[in-house]
Amino acid sequence: MYAEIIGWGKCAPPAILTNNDIATFMDTSDEWIVSRTGIKQRHISHVPCSELARVATERAISCSGIDAKDIDLIIFGSNTPNEMVPNCASKIVNAVGATNATGFDLNSACTSFLYALNVGTDMIKAGSIKTAVVIGMEKTSRLMDWGKRDSAILFGDGGGAVVLQATEKELGLIDAKLNLVPNTREMLSLPGFGMDMADEDYKTYYSSLNFDGQEIFKHAVRGMQEACNDLLSRTGVTQDEIELFVPHQANRRIIETLAKRMKFDLDKVVICVDKYANTSAGTIPLALCDALEEGRITAGMTMLTASFGAGLTCGAGLIKWGERTKPLEDSEAELPPCNQTALEIIQPSIDSAKKHYESK
Ligand SMILES: CC(C)(COP(=O)(O)OP(=O)(O)OC[C@H]1O[C@@H](n2cnc3c(N)ncnc32)[C@H](O)[C@@H]1OP(=O)(O)O)[C@@H](O)C(=O)NCCC(=O)NCCS
Repeated sequence: MYAEIIGWGKCAPPAILTNNDIATFMDTSDEWIVSRTGIKQRHISHVPCSELARVATERAISCSGIDAKDIDLIIFGSNTPNEMVPNCASKIVNAVGATNATGFDLNSACTSFLYALNVGTDMIKAGSIKTAVVIGMEKTSRLMDWGKRDSAILFGDGGGAVVLQATEKELGLIDAKLNLVPNTREMLSLPGFGMDMADEDYKTYYSSLNFDGQEIFKHAVRGMQEACNDLLSRTGVTQDEIELFVPHQANRRIIETLAKRMKFDLDKVVICVDKYANTSAGTIPLALCDALEEGRITAGMTMLTASFGAGLTCGAGLIKWGERTKPLEDSEAELPPCNQTALEIIQPSIDSAKKHYESK
């Protein structure tokens, strides 16, 4: 048994924050950000993460042509759920009318979509479920420390969802290799979230991303390359049989370095970090949806995906696409209208960063 990807949908909120917008309140420039990262803009959400996930899921369901009642499981891959308890997946199960489904959240940081895709696929392969929705979605803008220019410029909001369905054909995520780099937890962390936060004085609490960009860069390239090579040798698929490479979108230079080491021509690589920045768990489903819209994914294509994130977690996945590359039905799912600019949406977080650093 395999788990074919039969539906896909993305959601990028409408408000866009350009590099020049950031340069109005931070010592940075469009030139620096583009040359070091390839990022030109990021989307900023005016709604909670669950709402972005609802829209992407409804779009994926319409695309697949299934009834929401046929879904057995929804896995919500994210670092930015609305709340810890209850999980965010249950909110999405209810919102999309998946009355026969259960759901759980999965957080392995930026790799959450790939890890969730692996879990959902393996549950279908094992026969315990037949149909699953796997989501990768983030609202990272609310987590940013807008006083830290090395990390705040890197991230954005958005993501997507896919529908998996049991099939006897060898399609979907054929195999995956998931890794954790030992003793690298401190390189990328958000201390204080979760139960540790309960020990803090809530009013004075200020979340600030711990971030060692250069070390992450090196481990990201090495970790993804090792996972890709392990996976290729395990499956017997050669590098030149890969027709499209869909990597995590954190930094254009990371993608280019990895592509060079894997000997992939850039025309075989999906790059959309310029439009969305790093949407963490959202990058791979966004990249998949864009590649489908642009006609870059064709019937029967063999694809490789790779990801890395806090932990540091890494992984690679081998995907065999099915026959269909167009949605079966168009979706009417939309976000509520947004009447603020991206700068207006993040202004309270910018003010809070100012207050925090002035008081230091
Ligand atoms: C963060 C990252 C873009 C930094 O690029 P880099 O080429 O390594 O840049 P450096 O850290 O060497 O910084 C170079 C200089 O630019 C400065 N700088 C940092 N951020 C800046 C910004 N937004 N604007 C202008 N200057 C900036 C630094 O202060 C430093 O100045 P200095 O030399 O006077 O100290 C890069 O390391 C990266 O992308 N790492 C991966 C991180 C990541 O994606 N994490 C997410 C994991 S999912």
